[in-house]
Order: sequence, then structure tokens, then C-alpha cells
Amino acid sequence: MSTTTGKSTDIAIRCQGVSKAFGKRVILKDMNLEVRRGETFCIMGPSGCGKSVTLKHVIGLMQPDQGTVEVWGRDMRSLAREQLRELRSKIGYVFQEAALLNWLSAGDNVALPLRETTRLSEREIQERVRAKLELVRVPDAMEKLPNELSGGMKKRVGLARALVTDPELILYDEPTAGLDPEIASSINELIRELADSLHVTSLVVTHHVGTVKKVASRVGLLDNGRLNYVSGPEEFLNSKEPRLVRFLGAKLD
Ligand SMILES: Nc1ncnc2c1ncn2[C@@H]1O[C@H](COP(=O)(O)OP(=O)(O)O)[C@@H](O)[C@H]1O
Ligand SMILES: [Mg+2]
Repeated sequence: MSTTTGKSTDIAIRCQGVSKAFGKRVILKDMNLEVRRGETFCIMGPSGCGKSVTLKHVIGLMQPDQGTVEVWGRDMRSLAREQLRELRSKIGYVFQEAALLNWLSAGDNVALPLRETTRLSEREIQERVRAKLELVRVPDAMEKLPNELSGGMKKRVGLARALVTDPELILYDEPTAGLDPEIASSINELIRELADSLHVTSLVVTHHVGTVKKVASRVGLLDNGRLNYVSGPEEFLNSKEPRLVRFLGAKLD
């Protein structure tokens, strides 16, 4: 195991002793998380347990009250603004709601990160956007406005936007929430394919057992401020731990 003895660069994400409270409400309490390079790590957990908050720590949108968050061996808190920007440009974030700008076409939504962080020519931008929309299999979405797209297509466009800068790490916040089962399943396939073909590291927050089965290298349960029961998906889903049995048993899928 490389968890404690390996080079820090074998680890894409390391949260150590992270605590975070909002006012008096403690959300994360001495939380540890380690995601290895190239793996797909899933976080499950009840609503409001701090899954999205955890992702925001990883991309530096939130800072811990205590503890450290390292991405590729670099302490997020030690980074100057420019370094943080550079690091963030290698991270794709798929928001819980697709979070597309309604007044921009799907193509322009996907182009945004390129326009913000690169000096590519307009032609180059158009080419990359087209390639990403093809990759997520919505090539026809280019000119469409978000309200002309179905829920599943919006998620795909959000995914294309997260991928357009060719990130090495992708954070997914409930990528299949609110989708009908067939569409959810096709999104799971896509996450899996991206992980396999692009060799990215993925951190996936999900409520869906189907997603864990399809994509997870490892999975843990975020509960009472900590990440527990970290294991392979088989072991996790078939665990006899009472807390896990209760959590998974209460789920509809
Ligand atoms: N910026 C914030 N200010 C205050 N409370 C917040 C903030 N962000 C999240 N919270 C609270 O922290 C808790 C965990 O939020 P979140 O991580 O979004 O939950 P989930 O596990 O469902 O993704 C929730 O109770 C939420 O209301
Ligand atoms: Mg959330």
C-alpha cells in the first residue's frame, strides 16, 4: 500500500484531519481522504453530510478550519493565487446542477474555461469544443440554448465543459442525480470510459449504487464528519457493518 509510505505524487488528493464548521454546525470533523492517481473514488453519504463541501475543499473554493488538503502533493493553502489558478486549470468540476449559463449556447458554455484560461484562437477553441461535445455524445448541442436541452443532455454539456481543458482530475458532484435510469446508466458508462481512456483521476460524489458498481475503484461513506468504511465497491456494497447496511438498505436503488 502506498498510503503512508509512497511518494506523495502517487496520491492525487490527500485530506488530513480536515475540520469545517459553519457557525456552530460542524460539517467535517477530522476527516481523512486519500485518492490515488488514476483511480475513481466514490463518496456516498446522507444529504447534507458534507459531500459537496468536501469537493469544494479539493478545488480550493473552501478552506478547512483545521487540517490540510493536498492536491498532487501541494498544500492548497500554501499556493499563491496564480499557482492556485494553474492547479485549478488541471481540475474539472462537474456541478450538481449542470450550472449552464442560460443565455449562452451549449458550445459557448463549453468554451468558457478556454476563453478564461487560455489564449487559443477562436478556431482552435471551436475545434476543441466540438471534439468534447462529440466525446460526450451530444455533437448536435453546439448551437442550442440550455433550455432546449433535456436533463441528460445538460449533464453531458456540463461534463464537456469540465473536460474541455483536458483536466487530470475530475470532480463529479452527483452526476446522475435527477436523471431517469437509462440516462443515468449512460452517464455512468461515460465516466467509466473517460477514466479508462484518459487515465484521469476521478472523485465522484453519488447517491446511486449503480454508479458505485460501474465506476468505483474504491468507495467510502461520509457520515458524522468523517469518511468511513473505505473499500472496494464489492466489499462496500456487501458489507455487514450495521451502519452501511442501514444506509444502503434505505436507498431505493
Ligand atoms: N457556504 C455555506 N455556508 C453555510 N452552510 C453551508 C455552506 N455550504 C454548505 N453548508 C451546509 O453544510 C452542510 C453540508 O453541505 P453539502 O456539502 O452541500 O451537503 P451534501 O453532502 O448534501 O453535498 C449542509 O447542512 C449545508 O447547508
Ligand atoms: Mg451536495
